[in-house]
Amino acid sequence: MKYAAVVFDLDGTLTDSQPGIMRSAAYALEKMGKPPLSDAALRKFLGPPLTQSFAEHAGMSAEETIQATHLYRERYANIGWRENKVYPGIRRLLQALKNQGAYLAVATGKLMEASVDILTYFDLARYFDDVQGPRAHEYHITKEELIRRALKGRTDAVMIGDRDSDLHGGDAYGIDTIGVLYGYGAREEITHAAPTALVERVEGLYAALGVAEASPRPFFLSIEGNDGVGKTTQARVLYERLSDSGYQVRLTREPGGSEIAEKIREILLSTENADMSARTEALLYAAARAQHVQDVITPALSSGQVVLCDRYVDSSIAYQGAGRNLGEERVADINRFAINGVMPDLTVLLTMDPLEALQRRVKATGSDRIEQMDDAFHQRVERAFDAMPAQAPERIVAIDALGTTDEVAERVYDVVRERLQAGGIA
Ligand code: TYD
Repeated sequence: MKYAAVVFDLDGTLTDSQPGIMRSAAYALEKMGKPPLSDAALRKFLGPPLTQSFAEHAGMSAEETIQATHLYRERYANIGWRENKVYPGIRRLLQALKNQGAYLAVATGKLMEASVDILTYFDLARYFDDVQGPRAHEYHITKEELIRRALKGRTDAVMIGDRDSDLHGGDAYGIDTIGVLYGYGAREEITHAAPTALVERVEGLYAALGVAEASPRPFFLSIEGNDGVGKTTQARVLYERLSDSGYQVRLTREPGGSEIAEKIREILLSTENADMSARTEALLYAAARAQHVQDVITPALSSGQVVLCDRYVDSSIAYQGAGRNLGEERVADINRFAINGVMPDLTVLLTMDPLEALQRRVKATGSDRIEQMDDAFHQRVERAFDAMPAQAPERIVAIDALGTTDEVAERVYDVVRERLQAGGIA
């Protein structure tokens, strides 16, 4: 490693805040009754003061620009700050630097509190020894001063940023600098600032920092629960949160998830196949799973991705083993053959009070062959699921699915984040 300490800029270097900024600007325009702007025009709101952008691109009067700025800030404070994405590859880079004992810090022009919120929300805060941004009352603080605060006397260090101000700040403090071209700064701006090194993509930072790439660790996560617990919504929300946080995630589902497996899904769920025997059903679910493991799950895990699977083997044990009365052990056996050892590292089991689940199912009026099963069937499924966490406490975590989508999502995310962190997954 070339440096003992590495300081990162935030916006445009670690995270891409473009979506939140563009959408908040569009929101302000709409609220003000102004015609919408093209994406290209909205992109220009990144960087310059907002009042200036509203005047320049939407032809607002000085008074209007202030009103628009308030509207913008209102939306940005509510949701815009979360419409942010960690650049792909950053998480792995930070993990590699941390593994090799680097001191890591952030020095950003974004307000300190907002910066900490963003780093915490995307679970990056744990990589950093220090975060520095202007405090609320500090209007004219220089990048050099922020770097000084972040480094606390360290000089064997480098500053990484996407704007010339980052690079000038590093120069002024007397350390090496690395300019990145994947952020918001134009190439001329960066080359003109003459950084020690210049990289096009996140991956280029490994060579510039003299750090070896760590081989990525896979993680297999399944999400389970009886019909009506909101599992598919939670899988999607979790997928977005993890992707935005910079994980490489493959979202998939069962039955199905690959071309051949989806064909088997059609047979399984078609209401035309009312006469299908329970054994046939169990074998078809297992067959679809075997194909899915081969085509999707194993390749994604081999490339070090996080696989997020909406239902997996536990569904067969609950639905076919318990629901269809085939016996949980027997169904587990045929699935052992199908999955060939590929088991989840973590299974999130969404659970719900049986009465609430029943009411939801009544309201939902099931549309596929399984959902249309009677209540005794679903009660057996529920009981089987409920018993699972005690049988495999290391793998299966029960989470209460009652509450708003956001509330449940937060519970799910907390469990998942802890496991990813403990496993050193990046
Ligand atoms: P899914 O598409 O997950 O439906 P939902 O989003 O309503 O949960 O699954 C379709 C149905 O297939 C569902 O009722 C559960 C059932 N199923 C089994 O019976 N066994 C299995 O192994 C799997 C994966 C699903």
